[in-house]
Amino acid sequence: MTDLFSKFDPLIEQRAALLDTGVTDPFNLVMEKVESPTVAICNGRRTILLGTYNYMGMTFDPDVVAAGKKALDDFGSGTTGSRVLNGTYVGHKAVEQALKDFYAMDHAMVFSTGYQANLGVISTIAGKDDYVILDIDSHASIYDGCAMGNAQIVPFRHNDIEALEKRLKRVPEGAGKLVVLEGVYSMMGDVAPLKEMVAVSKANGAMVLVDEAHSMGFIGERGRGVAEAQGVIEDVDFIIGTFSKSVGTVGGFCVSNHPKFEILRLVCRPYVFTASLPPSVVATAATSIRKLMDSADKRGHLWENSKRLHAGLRQLGFTLGTDEPQSAIIAVMMPDLAKGAAMWEALLNEGLYVNLARPPATPAGMTLLRCSLCALHTEEQVGEILGMFAAAGRATGCIS
Ligand SMILES: Cc1ncc(COP(=O)(O)O)c(C=O)c1O
Repeated sequence: MTDLFSKFDPLIEQRAALLDTGVTDPFNLVMEKVESPTVAICNGRRTILLGTYNYMGMTFDPDVVAAGKKALDDFGSGTTGSRVLNGTYVGHKAVEQALKDFYAMDHAMVFSTGYQANLGVISTIAGKDDYVILDIDSHASIYDGCAMGNAQIVPFRHNDIEALEKRLKRVPEGAGKLVVLEGVYSMMGDVAPLKEMVAVSKANGAMVLVDEAHSMGFIGERGRGVAEAQGVIEDVDFIIGTFSKSVGTVGGFCVSNHPKFEILRLVCRPYVFTASLPPSVVATAATSIRKLMDSADKRGHLWENSKRLHAGLRQLGFTLGTDEPQSAIIAVMMPDLAKGAAMWEALLNEGLYVNLARPPATPAGMTLLRCSLCALHTEEQVGEILGMFAAAGRATGCIS
């Protein structure tokens, strides 16, 4: 018998070698208590959270929590059914209305996760003989959506407008074309040149889907993302998003003005063949989305945090993913996995949690410490964070 697990041997060995150095397992952290969007207890210690994607700090918002509790009392703990059977409650319609209002779009379809939103929309709308042209650094859920569908997949170099244009021009005449982009790329925290890319896509007869998972709530005047900030939201055919970041719960969605959009509810398998979100989740999401519309002050403070942390880390001598802060994600480059894990552990011992990211999730085999800021981090906390990076960086030899 061939052991089906033998393909994982290289990863098992790499993991064992890392843990043999005595370092704490960076992929097995337990939050013993979560006190707020910015502080938790880990290993019995107060820990500042700098790796949660809770950009707008909505998880403990009193209105959001109250809405969830009320829905739990009024509608029970779950729907036990698909959206197209017994799984659509008034709360699901209300959160879709909140999304339509937030984006000022005609249609909104809520999925159980953002992963399923990409999986479902991409695999359903791009069929046999169509082409999906996507940035090579796209999220796993975008690649999995492509793998699940039957379209031809054409990747282009990250954020390269000319490369996109070249690929588009090579698509056979008359074929359907879907260009898939992200507003903010979550590994390096860099922003896409959507204005130019959307223009090039439209000039070449393609539809455009933009995943705004890491920009919703924060980027753009009303928090609608990079497409809003760059003035092209009207030209984007589909926006994909998640409730698991700025919205502060779980779920995913697609919004669109396409006149035939609603047919997706019958043909999109990751929407049809799975249970819908629990009533408490859609109630928290709807409340959160409505509050995000009027959160300009929080957006301003989050930009201040991002700028302060970026400048401070640079001054300490760390190499960062972007020259300027472009989003609420700041990626600190590590020379290799061993050093990255040591730095991650040293930060945790100081009382700071960040994400350790490594291949294959990262581009070009990089190891990164990904920091994601929250609008509720105070100026003092950002100062504390920089002090912890200085101490851990010196202790591990990452900086001198
Ligand atoms: C760009 C992007 N799209 C989609 C997703 C999936 O979101 P969810 O957590 O709702 O499945 C993520 C999550 O990490 C993401 O970064």
